[in-house]
Amino acid sequence: MRIDIITVLPQMLEGAINCSILKRAQDKGLAEINLHNLRDYTDDKHNRIDDYPFGGEAGMVMQIEPIDNVISHLKSQRVYDEIIYTSPDGETFDQKMANKMSSLENIIILCGHYKGIDYRIREHFITKEISIGDYVLTGGELAAAIISDAVVRLIPGAIGDEQSALSDSFQDNLLAPPVYTRPAEYKGWKVPEILLSGHQAKIDEWKLQQSIERTKRLRPDLLED
Ligand code: ADE
Repeated sequence: MRIDIITVLPQMLEGAINCSILKRAQDKGLAEINLHNLRDYTDDKHNRIDDYPFGGEAGMVMQIEPIDNVISHLKSQRVYDEIIYTSPDGETFDQKMANKMSSLENIIILCGHYKGIDYRIREHFITKEISIGDYVLTGGELAAAIISDAVVRLIPGAIGDEQSALSDSFQDNLLAPPVYTRPAEYKGWKVPEILLSGHQAKIDEWKLQQSIERTKRLRPDLLED
């Protein structure tokens, strides 16, 4: 899978896409994440990418031309499955969306800023708008990092143990069960006996019950679907 991220702050994303699982997925050739600095695509001698809005509202608007330049350049090289714009107006990102996106070949993520982008970009290029939640960030970079992280880790082979992606919280609308590791007792705090029993069927049953109980208590909304 190839992800092209268009941003005015590539330094904000560099760390996120070049360490841990995302780095390993790229090293293994499972994913390729490229950052494109929008300022490299402006014809303006001061590298400006924003301007005042028509109609006189407060705040600046990202201009159409540099965004058209970079998207058209990318589209001339390959076919994109989705051109995503990160915005608080978008559809809320969730595990289902991450699952679907993990099977795509090529996507562009355009990180929004300021008051937004010239609306014509949204009308003519953007195929999907994604919000990571009902709050407003200073820009779309953190949203792009979150989307890339959640999607790339689902590509088969990206995480060592494929089973562990399948047993994530949300994968089946249930929160994950509690996990423990050695020592079995610490300062008198004990790991549940059942996990030490070696009886796999009973352990699996216990895990499912724990998942259901935690979901009812912490995220009852997930059970409504
Ligand atoms: N840009 C600003 N706020 C955002 C949000 N909540 N989700 C995605 N992009 C954003």
